[in-house]
Amino acid sequence: MGLYGALRPLLFRASADTAHDMAVRLGRVGQVAGPLVRALHPLRLGAEERARLSSRVLGLDFRVPIGTAAGLDKNAEIVPLVEQIGCGFCEVGSVSAEPRPGNPKPRAFRLPTDRALVNRLGLGNEGAAAIARRIGGMRRPPGFPIGINVVKTHDPAIIGAEGLDDFACAARTMLPHADFLVLNVSCPNTAEGKTFEDPASLAELLDRVMAERAALRSGVPVLVKLSPPAPLDAEGAFDTSALDELMDLALERGVAGFVATNTASDRAGLSTPTARLEAIGHGGLSGAPIRARALAMTRHMRRRLEGRAAIVGVGGIDTPEAAYERICAGADLVELYTGLVYAGPGLVGEAARTIVRGLDRDGHGSVADAVGSCA
Ligand SMILES: Cc1cc2nc3c(=O)[nH]c(=O)nc-3n(C[C@H](O)[C@H](O)[C@H](O)COP(=O)(O)O)c2cc1C
Repeated sequence: MGLYGALRPLLFRASADTAHDMAVRLGRVGQVAGPLVRALHPLRLGAEERARLSSRVLGLDFRVPIGTAAGLDKNAEIVPLVEQIGCGFCEVGSVSAEPRPGNPKPRAFRLPTDRALVNRLGLGNEGAAAIARRIGGMRRPPGFPIGINVVKTHDPAIIGAEGLDDFACAARTMLPHADFLVLNVSCPNTAEGKTFEDPASLAELLDRVMAERAALRSGVPVLVKLSPPAPLDAEGAFDTSALDELMDLALERGVAGFVATNTASDRAGLSTPTARLEAIGHGGLSGAPIRARALAMTRHMRRRLEGRAAIVGVGGIDTPEAAYERICAGADLVELYTGLVYAGPGLVGEAARTIVRGLDRDGHGSVADAVGSCA
């Protein structure tokens, strides 16, 4: 049992909300002790293995194709720590134009028997201006791309044209600080619903964001983060028509990639008792129960996109093998969140080593060769 395995029972005695706050606070202190963190989480890779793990995606160089998903570091407070645990990039946010406190606590819940979380954090964050200042003033880890995930300010009163202006403002403020920008159109935890995930609204949003990007003369790649499909049918398939329409219109508007997937609103395939789920209430489901559908979605997207846009695979990657599997299904990069809660930060290094072993076994020279090899 690693250090995290020993600490986990203690950490899990606190509520999921408290544990997350503690982790960010510890993270802020811990990142000044970089060499110690690195010593606890060594990548243990030789020069040749490192070279095979590195890849060029979205016009950016990634040393390791593993990063942290949005929500883990909403305010860009622990970027160096994410690098020190072995990640090759991070996606901070979601950042909105206006600061928001998020929903009242409790708002995050563990489902240990399902290795899952339910959260309704409600897009709390310090707001674009403050987070842009923080990132602008930070010493960025070299060779470590920082993705910034932006979203409409969580406020049901900000809708329609005002919602579009608000989203565009977050994009405009964060673009100069981002290596890549992710538009979160798929958060299930908003009072007003997913206001930008239907085709007409997404088209309008993309036209607007791309115009902002052009006005700034920015070449920063823009990605769209999508919801997972509905639970798979008996053949492991899902209706792809809505997804295909969204991908097509996004490609037409110059989107460079997709993040697949966000959390799910349903409670399919859980072994946690219904009474417990009812007591928890609404929120986005993440972790192992969404793995199969996020994987199927990645595979479908890869087949349809044929390399025209990058795929960032996220959702239920909680073992090293799942990371390699997602790459073979078509993900250029993978992201972790719930897996880190259950397996701890050692998951990053283990996944990196497992990817190298997978490349050896399957005769791939590099990560790029493996991407989509089982799509
Ligand atoms: C507590 C929590 C907060 C999250 N906050 C955000 C967010 O602010 N923006 C976003 O795009 N995704 C957010 N997510 C979704 C994750 O980025 C990820 O897409 C999802 O959890 C699936 O990955 P996982 O199964 O590895 O956790 C959040 C997830 C969790 C568990």
